[in-house]
Amino acid sequence: MTTDAAPRRDRTQIAPGYSVGVTEEMIRELVHAFYARVRAEPVLGPIFNAAIDDWDEHLAKLCDFWSSVLLMTGRFKGRPMAVHVQTPGVEPEHFGRWLELFTRTAQELWPPAAADLVVGRAHMIGRSLQMGIAVSRGEIP
Ligand code: HEM
Repeated sequence: MTTDAAPRRDRTQIAPGYSVGVTEEMIRELVHAFYARVRAEPVLGPIFNAAIDDWDEHLAKLCDFWSSVLLMTGRFKGRPMAVHVQTPGVEPEHFGRWLELFTRTAQELWPPAAADLVVGRAHMIGRSLQMGIAVSRGEIP
């Protein structure tokens, strides 16, 4: 039997980043620049440097993460909620610093529409991670 279904659109063409021109190369540039700044940031730097042994592996994982979020490539295989709940030293007040640095880096490196998209997603994910941390500590029933 033959099927004459219309050819499926590639998933990546309906991904949120597609229409604002996000590319893997842009993601790589943003991730590398952002974490270089994080490592040098006085409060965040020590937390990340204590938690991460292999920075090449971490940066590759974060490129996969943003590629999955923005381009729907499905490459990311991690468990961000569990990681943030379990990593020592991650506190709610760190999210503001993280997001401020991320926003500045995205706005410097990416065109406005793409920067707005990635910053918006980071805020949404940050809120859900903070919620998960609060629930795991019994601060929210
Ligand atoms: C607000 C938005 C944030 C996003 C989108 C984000 C995203 C991620 C992702 C995707 C991972 C990899 C998870 C995995 O391996 O499965 C990760 C790891 C990590 N994040 Fe975040 N993060 C955010 C905020 C923060 C903040 C505020 C801190 C606090 C300092 C933090 C500290 C860490 C650390 C230390 C790791 C590595 C843990 C390890 O591999 O042992 N993150 N993050």
